[in-house]
Amino acid sequence: MEIKRVGVIGAGQMGAGIAQVCASIGKVVTLCDIKQDFVDNGLASISKNLQRSVSKDRISQKQMDDTLANVSTSLDNKELSNCDIIIEAIIEDVEIKKNLFSSLGDICKERTILASNTSSIPIGILADASGREDKVVGMHFMNPVPIMKLVEVIRAKSTSDDTFDTTFKLAEDLNKVPVLVNDFPGFVSNRILLPMLNEAMFCVMEGVAEPEAIDTVMKLGMGHPMGPLTLADFIGLDTCLAIMKVLHNDMNDDKYRPCPLLEEMVSKGKFGRKSGEGFYKY
Ligand SMILES: NC(=O)c1ccc[n+]([C@@H]2O[C@H](COP(=O)([O-])OP(=O)(O)OC[C@H]3O[C@@H](n4cnc5c(N)ncnc54)[C@H](O)[C@@H]3O)[C@@H](O)[C@H]2O)c1
Repeated sequence: MEIKRVGVIGAGQMGAGIAQVCASIGKVVTLCDIKQDFVDNGLASISKNLQRSVSKDRISQKQMDDTLANVSTSLDNKELSNCDIIIEAIIEDVEIKKNLFSSLGDICKERTILASNTSSIPIGILADASGREDKVVGMHFMNPVPIMKLVEVIRAKSTSDDTFDTTFKLAEDLNKVPVLVNDFPGFVSNRILLPMLNEAMFCVMEGVAEPEAIDTVMKLGMGHPMGPLTLADFIGLDTCLAIMKVLHNDMNDDKYRPCPLLEEMVSKGKFGRKSGEGFYKY
């Protein structure tokens, strides 16, 4: 199936990035969220990113204008009923995502693929909720979406060949490198990454070193481009906590126990870069 119309639900940092890259290759994109402010912010961040690319001569003004012309916004998911694919990028909460997939199963045309950008929630759970198991797939982009090449394409047991192949090809058309991953909590990326970030937080909590020192050790000692605490702030500490909880519950193994300092920071509204404070102040 050829993908022409794309719906993106959730206009936060990931949803806005996904809408941008889809619009930039000529897809007709509708970006949805629950409040006008949120879709406005999503659109503003797309505009700002594109403007930066124009000023660095990476794209022309016309490419920027064409990309923006391909994006419309909405507060009503029913407007996505005619999309070829819907990519969900709302908060990492299994009950909220299940409700959304259940309603999308009712709203959308039979052919519509329902993809989730979840960081950790098994796709099979969302497939069951949708009532159209064969059409559900994971499409896990990395942050920031316009820059990062990888997309994990997660195949649930129920995902049909056509759904998987169409999603894999869309990722290639977006100039990304898709990788097939089977349906396990956290997939590959966050099964490996998040326990490391969590361990860095234990190091802060136990006084092993200050955040700057921990980040420097991992950057200069291990060759990581960004220290784990800077990266956690960038991902969003609320999202990091949600992922650790999924790993802990679903794998039923205490090695994935979320760091108590992470829980405390999230309970105080310290979500990292997006709230202005996390392990660092912004
Ligand atoms: N932040 C990352 O680095 C990263 C990377 C890969 C995947 N993800 C995943 O992408 C998803 C979104 O993460 P984010 O960082 O963009 O979060 P975010 O907090 O920046 O944005 C989430 C958006 O979803 C909206 N939302 C919440 N419930 C909604 C609903 N029922 N309908 C429509 N919109 C709704 C919120 O209003 C918000 O604008 C999560 O599942 C996350 O795990 C995040």
